[in-house]
Amino acid sequence: MTWGSDLAGRGRGRGGLRRLGDQMRKALPYLFSERRRALERHRLERIAFDSDLLSMGCLSYGEPLVAVSAATPEHVHAGSFVSIGLDVMFLDGGNHNANWVTTFPLRIRLGLPGGHEDGQPFSKGDIVIGNDVWIGSYAHVLSGVTIGDGAIIGSRSVVAKDVRPYAIVVGNPAREIRRRFSDEQVDALLEIAWWDWPMSKIVDQVSELCGPDIDRFIARNAQR
Ligand SMILES: CC(C)(COP(=O)(O)OP(=O)(O)OC[C@H]1O[C@@H](n2cnc3c(N)ncnc32)[C@H](O)[C@@H]1OP(=O)(O)O)[C@@H](O)C(=O)NCCC(=O)NCCS
Repeated sequence: MTWGSDLAGRGRGRGGLRRLGDQMRKALPYLFSERRRALERHRLERIAFDSDLLSMGCLSYGEPLVAVSAATPEHVHAGSFVSIGLDVMFLDGGNHNANWVTTFPLRIRLGLPGGHEDGQPFSKGDIVIGNDVWIGSYAHVLSGVTIGDGAIIGSRSVVAKDVRPYAIVVGNPAREIRRRFSDEQVDALLEIAWWDWPMSKIVDQVSELCGPDIDRFIARNAQR
């Protein structure tokens, strides 16, 4: 059975097919218009690594994909000394409304007035990443999420909620499996905030920074 005869056979009849044809004819000018092509180009340009959409602090590295839609020009702000693995994606927008009749972005796809302005799609806000954060390969971070200083995001995690400082989170949805250090140690490290030091001081203490003796590092640097 062909698609056309199936449609007719299920009771649409000739009237139904005519209405469908009328609807298609009305949509065609939008589907192939220059305006629609321009919107498409704009959309595609923004689904890419783009320094306008991503700011990274001192020595932070990685080439994450920042996916936003033209309707939701949110940003990703990453702090200093952030390590980003392979193919990490920041989904900073592109949420479709689950409580609308349709999740389909009709105005955008048909080139109708109000596209990109009607709240479909939408974003939950900027993604903010602290300092000294390690994001494992293939992780996805959703809009509106804040990741605290010193946190670790496991490979292939989907981070939908905020991550507290020095937490290790894994899985989909990402859940905290533990904290890297005790609460007291974390408080002291956040107070010390070594990532804000001058580079000469960081180099001076590189042996402690690249070692496991947390208490010694804290004792040397804690404010008295
Ligand atoms: C997050 C990570 C650092 C945790 O390492 P860890 O502290 O040694 O954790 P463990 O291996 O002891 O695992 C602890 C638990 O979390 C689970 N787990 C660890 N990593 C996970 C991940 N990415 N996704 C889902 N579950 C994970 C383990 O299965 C284990 O579960 P269990 O307690 O039920 O047995 C590590 O697993 C990871 O994902 N590293 C990222 C590597 C990477 O992407 N490198 C790219 C180069 S930058």
